[in-house]
Amino acid sequence: MILSKFVDELPIPPILKPRWKDQFYTYYEVNMTEFKQSLHSELNDTTVWGYEGSYPGPTIEVESGEKVFIKWINNLPDKHLLPVDYTVHGAHVDVPEVRTVVHVHGASVEWESDGYPEAWFTKGFKQVGPYFRKEIYRYDNYNRACTLWYHDHALGITRLNVYAGLAGFYLIRDLWERSLNLPSGKYEIPLMIQDKTFNKDGSLYYPKQPEKPVPELETSIVPEFIGDTILVNGKVWPYLKVEPRKYRFRLLNASNTRFYRLKLDSGQLFYQIGTDGGLMEYPIGVKEIMLAPAERADVIVDFTNLEGKNIIMTNDAPAPFPTGDPTDEDTGTVMQFRVALPLSSVDTSVIPAYLTTFPKIKEQSASKIRYLTLNDNMDKYGREFMLLDNKQWDAPITENPKLGSTEIWYLINLTTDSHPIHIHLIDFQILDRRDFDVEKFNKERIIHYTGPAIPPEPQERGWKDTVRANPNQVTRIIMKFGPYTGLYVWHCHILEHEDYEMMRPYIVIR
Ligand code: C2O
Ligand code: CU
Ligand code: CU
Repeated sequence: MILSKFVDELPIPPILKPRWKDQFYTYYEVNMTEFKQSLHSELNDTTVWGYEGSYPGPTIEVESGEKVFIKWINNLPDKHLLPVDYTVHGAHVDVPEVRTVVHVHGASVEWESDGYPEAWFTKGFKQVGPYFRKEIYRYDNYNRACTLWYHDHALGITRLNVYAGLAGFYLIRDLWERSLNLPSGKYEIPLMIQDKTFNKDGSLYYPKQPEKPVPELETSIVPEFIGDTILVNGKVWPYLKVEPRKYRFRLLNASNTRFYRLKLDSGQLFYQIGTDGGLMEYPIGVKEIMLAPAERADVIVDFTNLEGKNIIMTNDAPAPFPTGDPTDEDTGTVMQFRVALPLSSVDTSVIPAYLTTFPKIKEQSASKIRYLTLNDNMDKYGREFMLLDNKQWDAPITENPKLGSTEIWYLINLTTDSHPIHIHLIDFQILDRRDFDVEKFNKERIIHYTGPAIPPEPQERGWKDTVRANPNQVTRIIMKFGPYTGLYVWHCHILEHEDYEMMRPYIVIR
């Protein structure tokens, strides 16, 4: 089905209103429901899942340090919208089919409120997972200003819940950021990029089986999901009318598997000002922005003097990345900017030469080094699946950093895919990436480097919570664990991988 491009205007998710707010704390309630929404004007309305009747969910805006409580309420039907595979971890027939648990991605949160995959709950909290601790989550928002997002994280069905629509932005603001005079108000726009495939009747398509079907199973997880249609903020190939001035865009890849390498067809630069965890030291002008699932980039685009121009944001990242199919005219198109609005007032916002400082975590400060492989495996149905450190989700916990300690993790990728590795609770810094001999490692379990250590790309030189671990490379990251102790997870953010064993619990101990 071919849908026309740039016929619908980009929706901007509403800002969520608190139920209560005083000088001490803020309280929100967020309902998850099923409803119909128009994702493209040539398409019948699509049944989706969303928060507060909206897909993407409403944007939650908080101040750094604000105490926020949120009651996430499951009001979804008992039957899943999409085909469930009952053979993957945590999704067996003995648990309710529709389970939800919300995680604020990138936030520093006590573990009981972090959305542990087995802390799921059903409608009305009738049934809850073994790690469920509380109905009302608490967020202390210790992070500096940054672009976070919230999404579902229920064990074994995260890919389906997020694909159905359970994702939204969570922005933390602070005084320092405000003092920089970045484009703000209607000139600051979050862009959630996702890929989907539609059935003719407008419903969401999600495969029941991989390309090589598993005859024993009616429904089987796919090794990756690659959609043929690109959506931004829940609209297919939208356009946005802009004024000839600077805009700030918070780019988020909220796709299941697809990576994006974004460019502007005008040849213009993106001025990147922030990474996953907030502002970088100084802006960098870049022609392209690479985003793996869950990665964010905070950018400024300057449309000054471009009156009347139409600018297309394109994508040329192969899917799966990096060895998959190249993009075509459809998957290579993301959205259009139309410089069609008159300048409503003089643009006094700036792209500051200096943004912020933060300490570079020193390698010498690390008290522990962990060598962690990313590897392939095969299940009893002959399906390939991926593991972290060669261990399944249910294996005993092996990553147990001490509160306040600094560690270096060597992510040793033995697979042929790039995996976006995400660690809950903390932000890390990327030290370097380095080619190594995979065959030798498989035989002798030693890392034999075949190239020099490559420093992170300029776009990655900031706080990160998700890092691309490329094939045939060792990616090194460094982080300090805290300020909470407790049970968290780290995982690949390709949701089809995360749901099928490429996720591990970890614990911060005292
Ligand atoms: Cu964005 Cu553990 O997730
Ligand atoms: Cu997270
Ligand atoms: Cu992966």
